[in-house]
Formats: sequence, C-alpha cells, structure tokens
Amino acid sequence: PTARRGQHAVAPGLDWSDEPTLTALSQLMAAPHLPVHAAPMLAAASATAGPERPVLNPAATTEVVGTVQEASASDLATACDTAAAFAPLWAALPAAERATALERAAELLVARRDELLPLLCREAGKTLPAALNEIREAADFCRYYAHEARSQWPERMPSALGPVAAISPWNFPLAIFVGQIAAALAAGNPVLAKPAEETPLVAAQAIRLLWQAGIPHAALQLLPGGPELGAALVGHPAIRGVLFTGSLPAAQAIHRTLATGDARRPLIAETGGMNAMLVDSSALPEQVVQDVLTSAFDSAGQRCSALRVLCLPTATADLISDMLRAAMRELSIGDPCRLDTDVGPLISAEALARVEAALRDFVEQGQPVYQPPLAITGGHFMAPALVEINALSRLPGEIFGPVLAVLRYRPEQLPGLLAELDARQYGLTLAVASRCPSFVEQVTTAVRVGNVYVNRNQIGAVVGHQPFGGERLSGTGPKAGGPWLLWRLLRNAAPCAAP
Ligand code: NAD
Ligand code: ALA
Repeated sequence: PTARRGQHAVAPGLDWSDEPTLTALSQLMAAPHLPVHAAPMLAAASATAGPERPVLNPAATTEVVGTVQEASASDLATACDTAAAFAPLWAALPAAERATALERAAELLVARRDELLPLLCREAGKTLPAALNEIREAADFCRYYAHEARSQWPERMPSALGPVAAISPWNFPLAIFVGQIAAALAAGNPVLAKPAEETPLVAAQAIRLLWQAGIPHAALQLLPGGPELGAALVGHPAIRGVLFTGSLPAAQAIHRTLATGDARRPLIAETGGMNAMLVDSSALPEQVVQDVLTSAFDSAGQRCSALRVLCLPTATADLISDMLRAAMRELSIGDPCRLDTDVGPLISAEALARVEAALRDFVEQGQPVYQPPLAITGGHFMAPALVEINALSRLPGEIFGPVLAVLRYRPEQLPGLLAELDARQYGLTLAVASRCPSFVEQVTTAVRVGNVYVNRNQIGAVVGHQPFGGERLSGTGPKAGGPWLLWRLLRNAAPCAAP
C-alpha cells in the first residue's frame, strides 16, 4: 500500500485566542463533575460482581474521580468465547460498513469533547491542550483506519486474524486506546480491550461511545484490570494477535508468552525510548530552548516520544543551558484543569517515587541536578529537572518523567557520541537542531530511529501524516497511523517491506 497523506478528514482544534471559547472552557473545567463508573463491558452476559476501587485524581489525591470494578477470570473467558464466535461474522462484513461505524465514532468523539475533556484531565492528569489533542488524535485514528480499510479493500479483503487483544498505557488513555481498537476493528478483528489500570474511566467512556456509533458489542468488549489480567488475556487460546503499547519489560513478557504458544499470533508492540536531540553551534538558541521545553516537559515528560538527552556543543552549551534554566523557572506546574498550567502531575505516587529515586542516584554519582522551586502540593507534582551528565553511560534507561539529561560534546567527539547513542538499541524519536544540512544528514544517518524531527519539537506525531513508532527496543512496527498497520492485522497478508 502507499500512504495516502491527508486524504482523511482531520478533527478540528480550538481557537486559543478567542475569549468566549476560553471562558466557556474555564467554566467547563471548574464545574462539579459526576463520578464515572467503569466495569467489564461484555456482549453476552453481565460481568460477575466484584469489588470496586476508587480512581483518584493525580493532581488532587483526595478527589475521587470515579470507581472501577475489574474483570474476573470468568469475565475474561466469557468475553473471549463471545469474540471468537462473532469473529467470522465481523470479518465477513464489507470493509466499508466497518469504516462507516468508525467514522461515526470519530464524529461522536469530537461532539462529546466537553464530557471527555474534564475526565482526561482529572483521571490522567492531562493538561487542557494535551487532552484536546488526545480527543483529536483518537478521532483521527478512527477516520484514518476507516479510510485505509475502505480504499485498500473496496471489494473483497484478505482474511482477518480473529479476536485481538488491545493492551494500552495510561499516558494516552484515549488516543492510543481508541487507535489500537480502530485499527483492529477496521481490519475485521473483534477486540478485547484492556486499558491501563490507572485510567479505566476514560476507557469505559470511549467504549460506550464506540458502541453508540454502531460497533457491535461482540466486536468490542472492555476488560478493566492490571498486568495479571493482561497476561491472562494474552495467554488465552482465542486471542489471535496482540496490539500492545507500554513498557519494554511488559512487551518482552508478552513476546515470550506468544512465542511459547502458537507462534503465528503476531505481536505489534510500541515501547519506550532513549530519545536524543542533537544540537550544533549553528542552531538558534531561542528555538532550541522552546523545542526542548515542549519535548522534555510537556505531559510532565510522560510520553514515549519525550526528549531524554540533550546533546549540546561546548560552543553554545553554557548559553543554552542558562536560557533553559530560566525558561524552566517560568513553567507553571499545577492543576491540569487550569488553562494556564504548563506541567501537570505524574500519574501516581509510585511513578513520582521512581523518578525522584533516579534523581537521587544522579546526585550520588556526582551529576549536578537543577530544579526550580515547586510551589504546589496535594498531587503527584514534581518540578522539571535538568541533569548535567558527563557520559551517556550515566543514563540508567528510560526515566518516565520530567527529567532532562544534558551532555556536552566537542566537535571531534560527535561520531563517537552518535555511535554510542545508536548502540543503546532504542530507536523511537530523534531531533536535530541545526542550520547546516551536512550536520542533519550526519546525525540522521548514524542514529536509527522511527521518527526524526528537524528544527522542531519531537512530540505529537500527526496520524496519517507522520506514522509513529520505533525500531529495535522501541517497537516492532508497523507504525501507528501509517498504511502498513492494518496489513499486519490480517492472516497471511502482511507485506514484509517497511514503508
Ligand atoms: P506498562 O507496560 O506498565 O503498562 C502498559 C499496559 O500493559 C497496561 O495496560 C498494563 O496493565 C499492561 N501490562 C503490564 N504488564 C503486562 C503483562 N506482563 N502482560 C500483559 N499486559 C501487561 O506501561 P505504562 O507504565 O502504563 O506506560 C508507560 C510506558 O509506555 C513507557 O515505557 C512509555 O515509553 C511507553 N509508551 C510507548 C508508546 C509508544 O507509542 N511507543 C506510547 C505510550 C507509552
Ligand atoms: N504519538 C505520540 C507522540 O508523538 C506518542 O508524542
């Protein structure tokens, strides 16, 4: 298939300069909210009654956003049996019929923006711009895969896989959750969706909306729960393929399970990164600082694509470092429901403790850490941190939070630095800041990654225009929001060449 760029409709954004729009948004976010409930959403039978637990707001840890009842082993078995029985019917539908339901879902996602926004901010700690982008991205995934299915298979399509497990992370509880589902459904597979344990409420709202759009209940069922449920789902014999986004260890565990069972079941895994930005002395310092702030600290660094290590030439390192520290002091950290918040909370107390422990390790190793003062309490907040490291080997792996390592290099050290970056085996995002084409070429040919960004920030890939995903330890491909993914979700029909 060829990428048909820009041929699917893209969800609208907001005019951030329009006063009435902003006032309405502030009122919406300040309004009291009703608690949301999530439970297993099965097609065939009611879920078994199980214990409920509260879901708390990571920005105000005494606030209950809703409750969740997790799926039991018997719910899992029932859902898998129903999906397996329904699989031939769903696969036999013309691709256009499934596409129409997904397009309706895209419309509903945009139309129900005011219901989804507060929930995304309260359950997942998303800032408002990030939450808005999630809704747009989720709608774009539905439209994009609908468009791909409709145009790839106008008449007969190759055989679908059968029931697919879609296992997603909390940091994109709507966009990645819906994106996985939309891809699997468009290719004719029923889906068993297991959202992250931190964000079951957004997931339940999304399933209600997809059902309302006309996706049959037997084609899409929700199983809230944690890693154990995810592992049991992957191991269930009815599951014919797995879409996974999350950490590397979890992807490796799933891979082992699939490899020891029926090895024909494909795993499409998207994991983390050790993402770098390479700056040379021709780069504009102001632009570098702006792009670094967005890349490293948007979503409190809780993006797989986020910048983790900034490589600065000694010629401009002091200047850029000083400007960066000054800009970090200006970031507003706090309640993500406020319009003026730049950085929200970390997702949980455990996540915060892990990131703080990593910072302490840097200090113990004699690597200086800079953090502006933090003026807010009551949630899992952390001031963005900048760590001056003297060698790449100081980085322990992906630190999933607002921590940016800065490494200085002299021109003669560049080839060795690029070789070392590539040798770390991660390959998700890479940014280059330079006005010199030969530098851009040197960097981008030496470090193999899925997504390269030149003279801009390195987050927020746009569905259909910038297919997103990594290689080696960062993911199996095919990329999300690109033309190859649907083919991998079919039986004996996956093209093997990379796009
Ligand atoms: P995680 O791996 O802990 O959890 C992700 C999902 O997998 C959750 O639903 C969890 O319940 C489930 N899970 C965990 N262990 C499992 C197992 N053994 N079997 C089956 N399911 C299992 O990851 P997280 O902390 O929720 O998310 C953060 C990670 O995700 C980071 O490493 C980040 O880089 C990565 N991520 C990658 C992308 C991408 O597109 N490459 C996007 C977002 C997040
Ligand atoms: N697709 C997301 C990004 O590009 C993860 O930041």
